[in-house]
Amino acid sequence: MGMSENGINFNLIVFGGDGDLACRKIYPAIYHRIREGQFSASSNIVAVSRNQYTADEFHSILEKNITKHVENVDPKIMKDLFSMTEYISADLTQQSEYKSIKESILSKNIKNTIFYFSTPSSLFLSISESLKANDMIHDEVKIVLEKPLGHDLASFEKLNSGIRKYFKEKQIFRIDHYLGKETVQNLMVLRFANHIFELAWNANYIDNVQITVAESIGVEQRKNYYDQYGALKDMVQNHLLQLLCLVAMEPPAKLNAHNVRDEKLKVLKAVRKYDKKSIQKNFVRAQYTRGEVNGVQMQSYQEDIDRFDSTTETFVAMKVDIDNWRWAGVPFYLRTGKRMTERYSEIVINFKRVPHNVFPSKKKIHRNKLIIRLQPEESIQLVQMAKEPGPGGYRYKPVSLELDYADSFDDYLPDAYERLLADVVRGIQTLFMREDELRAAWEWTHSILDNMEATELDFYKAGTMGTGDKILNGDHYWHKNNTKK
Ligand code: BG6
Repeated sequence: MGMSENGINFNLIVFGGDGDLACRKIYPAIYHRIREGQFSASSNIVAVSRNQYTADEFHSILEKNITKHVENVDPKIMKDLFSMTEYISADLTQQSEYKSIKESILSKNIKNTIFYFSTPSSLFLSISESLKANDMIHDEVKIVLEKPLGHDLASFEKLNSGIRKYFKEKQIFRIDHYLGKETVQNLMVLRFANHIFELAWNANYIDNVQITVAESIGVEQRKNYYDQYGALKDMVQNHLLQLLCLVAMEPPAKLNAHNVRDEKLKVLKAVRKYDKKSIQKNFVRAQYTRGEVNGVQMQSYQEDIDRFDSTTETFVAMKVDIDNWRWAGVPFYLRTGKRMTERYSEIVINFKRVPHNVFPSKKKIHRNKLIIRLQPEESIQLVQMAKEPGPGGYRYKPVSLELDYADSFDDYLPDAYERLLADVVRGIQTLFMREDELRAAWEWTHSILDNMEATELDFYKAGTMGTGDKILNGDHYWHKNNTKK
């Protein structure tokens, strides 16, 4: 047995067990958690899919993927993984095909059982039904659901109520992998473990907030999925709204699942919905055309997906108002897109200008900015005005106080899936979405979907930052990415 026999023991059944997500994220995450001693190497992992692999064939798939996604693989842990993992071929739509999965679980005498639904969501209901029919659901069973959970409110409700027939809310772990990112969790520490920021964290001192999630990749292998979803449903309805919640929510009384999710829900309910008129001013959607990303010539979106009448948006930007005391009058600008200049995500808090300029030159005094960089590297910059050295009156300019996390912590930064999987195994739901949060997120998203026709599709060149300037108020401008690269 491995070095981690004291870690947590569990059954993990991965439906879609040879899929991209399982290979890229789930198995590497398990590897790391075993290495850290958190997961016991006597746990039981069952990969299920329709293919017919022998045990050896599946082990070589596992080995290939671990080697691809993990640095300096420890052969000992690789061996542990092999001995923990079993491959079962099954057609998940056939209830009779769950028997060998059940036998595998029963043979281990481990109660803590996780069914990971890493399949298209069209299979979620039949998997749930089959688990029930085979008497495989008990109180210590948890399920993990990957997005997309529906493509609108009605399909979400249908899927959710179908699943809720078989599972209690406390058994359901709905993943938004942004919540598992170390840097996103750090938002809570930044806000709730530092007094100075929280004092000014409201409409009295903050002028506007910007959230940018820019990607340089295109739609890769997911053409059909993406063309049906588009940037709004793929990124905003989930990831960007979650980031917005973490920036805007009230401090929870305790950092537990119940309190944190209650506070996020209040924000989601206070986000103003759009109507036919307001959407024209406050929302833009666009699709990329040919252009150059990092020196490489790229095709247009339509060429990428080979559909020349597609009106799917690959970029959206919007001005969001939050109607509550803390945020009244403070615009939150959100933007995200594919094939943008480069991959980076950041949250920029723009503070209000000083009320009066005492300096004789009357030169413009820039706003203080707090720039929270989430990826690819993590840093926090506080931009402040400073005097330029030397005689000749007061000359000043913005300079930045910078905290680069890589300089302060040399620990390896775990992938989001490691943290999320560890929380599922331990039954901690704080970083997972509750059904009422998703419902509220869909309700707000509908105010865009239902009024989309009042807006026009714009186009932007691949390798640019999209068309988000159109929604900015007065003297606002998007913060320019200034990585040191
Ligand atoms: C996924 C979206 O949820 O998030 C993808 O479906 C997107 O389209 C991805 O590329 C971005 O995640 P990350 O972790 O690379 O920022």
